[in-house]
Amino acid sequence: MNTHHTHVPPAAVRWVGETDGYLELLDQTRLPTELVQVPCREVAQVWEAIKTLRVRGAPAIGIAAAYGVVLSQREGPSRERALAAADYLATSRPTAVNLFWALDRMRSVVHAHAEVDTLPPRLLREAAQIHEEDRRMCRAIGRHGAALLGDSAVVITHCNAGGLATSEYGTALSVLFTCQDQGKSVRVFVDETRPLWQGARLTAWELQQRGIAATLICDAMAAHVMQTHHVDAVIVGADRITARGDVANKIGTYSLAIAARHHGVPFYVAAPSSTFDMALREGTHIPIEQRDASEIAQPFGHAIAPAGIDVYNPAFDVTPAELITALITERGIITPVSEQEIRRVVDA
Ligand code: MRU
Repeated sequence: MNTHHTHVPPAAVRWVGETDGYLELLDQTRLPTELVQVPCREVAQVWEAIKTLRVRGAPAIGIAAAYGVVLSQREGPSRERALAAADYLATSRPTAVNLFWALDRMRSVVHAHAEVDTLPPRLLREAAQIHEEDRRMCRAIGRHGAALLGDSAVVITHCNAGGLATSEYGTALSVLFTCQDQGKSVRVFVDETRPLWQGARLTAWELQQRGIAATLICDAMAAHVMQTHHVDAVIVGADRITARGDVANKIGTYSLAIAARHHGVPFYVAAPSSTFDMALREGTHIPIEQRDASEIAQPFGHAIAPAGIDVYNPAFDVTPAELITALITERGIITPVSEQEIRRVVDA
């Protein structure tokens, strides 16, 4: 049994009220020092929240965008406004496929019936269902993934694939929370995750809240940790997985996978089926978000580089399938990572 003292963090995404209600987001740009909830009553506020990473993580931005489409009905039922909201929200961030997957589901609701008066409740029901399905997928990912780890496992993770990035338990972190629920102890090295520090600000906080032993490291220390410590596994989340198993995830994931291969450490990617893009085969075709230079040269408003320096700031990289030991999905473990195995498990 779990004897740790745990504290469950507030939900990243919450719908308050009925069809005339609003979306409440936990502002992740303020964590871990401030717990601030931001209400969104307009589609544009949801777009801004996704763009600026107040809400982030592939499943969470899909859920938030789905509720964003519901907000388009506050001025009254309108198919045109719902579709325009979906198109607009789709321009917020390009890499995580969950965003487009969730918006396609919302568009299908609009197209399913000619009747417009019942559109707002039907849209809210679909968004709530996307939200609830994600909760169940995260729990199932945790159960499948926990079977891969023994007691006292030492794990490295990158970025934040926890409750903050999803509806509740997360993907990569769900595996660790489930181990804890099963009474297995885990120790986690947390990559700080430059340039926006989702590891330091969000993952370290979530693990601490849950009473899981966490040690914060700079991204550049991960290979050294593998060389000098026993590490059982690397577990990360994903923003998009192609049909052949190439994985887009937070910048730095690829180098972590190379280091893991060199050291013989299993490299696991945990993600729900909503993260698979079966229309793309090669990872090189995944659109990679480029973000503002200021995030690197003046992180959080503090200049650390000479003014005017040229900056390259891709937010994601692609880890080729060949470096991935297994994909942990809600439908089971996919190994070896091949198109055939992915289609067998995800397309079934
Ligand atoms: O830029 P972010 O913070 O949205 O990037 C998030 C990640 O890379 C996560 O690992 C991924 O979305 C999976 S979250 C379950």
